[in-house]
Amino acid sequence: MNGRIGVAAVVAAVSLLGSSGAAVAGDGKSNVTAAERGRYLVTISGCNDCHTPGGMEKGLAVPEREWLTGVPVGFQGPWGTTYPANLRLVINSMTEAEWLKHARLQRKPPMPWYSLAAMSDQDLKAVYAYVRSLGPAGVVAPAYVAPGGKVDTPYFVFVPVVDQKQAAVTR
Ligand code: HEC
Repeated sequence: MNGRIGVAAVVAAVSLLGSSGAAVAGDGKSNVTAAERGRYLVTISGCNDCHTPGGMEKGLAVPEREWLTGVPVGFQGPWGTTYPANLRLVINSMTEAEWLKHARLQRKPPMPWYSLAAMSDQDLKAVYAYVRSLGPAGVVAPAYVAPGGKVDTPYFVFVPVVDQKQAAVTR
């Protein structure tokens, strides 16, 4: 009798843990914390490519304390010039509820906003928990510049180029 009560108590405790958000269900490892799951999501979805200084060149070799601190090099195209935001400052300045709305807003290229917007609430909360665990760091990224405006930072130009000689050879 005592043994059965014990099992029931453990089951109740585990399901309480699950519903409190301390553990993340659905990954087969219920003891993975939301922050750990967030780190995993950030890693596999490529946020560091653009939002981490040196991310594209060095990948995960960039020290984690520098992850997601934003990059002052713009991406220029027909949309103007955009800068990968400092997500450490952005996320650490808002509540979880604000983040859920903010993360689903449409953004300018080359931000894959539709991928972020497609994340489940649970995944967005995990990303939030992870970036909160890293804390704020770095400086605010430069502000967006409209097409034709003055840009005083380095920037990449996103314009498709056709090399006529090369095109003639491969045709
Ligand atoms: C290909 C480059 C690129 C990748 C990859 C990328 N971003 Fe971005 N991100 C940007 C750029 C550029 C902006 C600025 C867009 C704008 O000004 O509208 C931005 C803006 C944002 C913003 C809005 C920030 C603010 O408040 O101003 C959020 C949030 C964000 N990104 C989160 C993410 C997350 C999370 C990931 C990974 C899932 C990610 N981004 C992947 C380039 C990228």
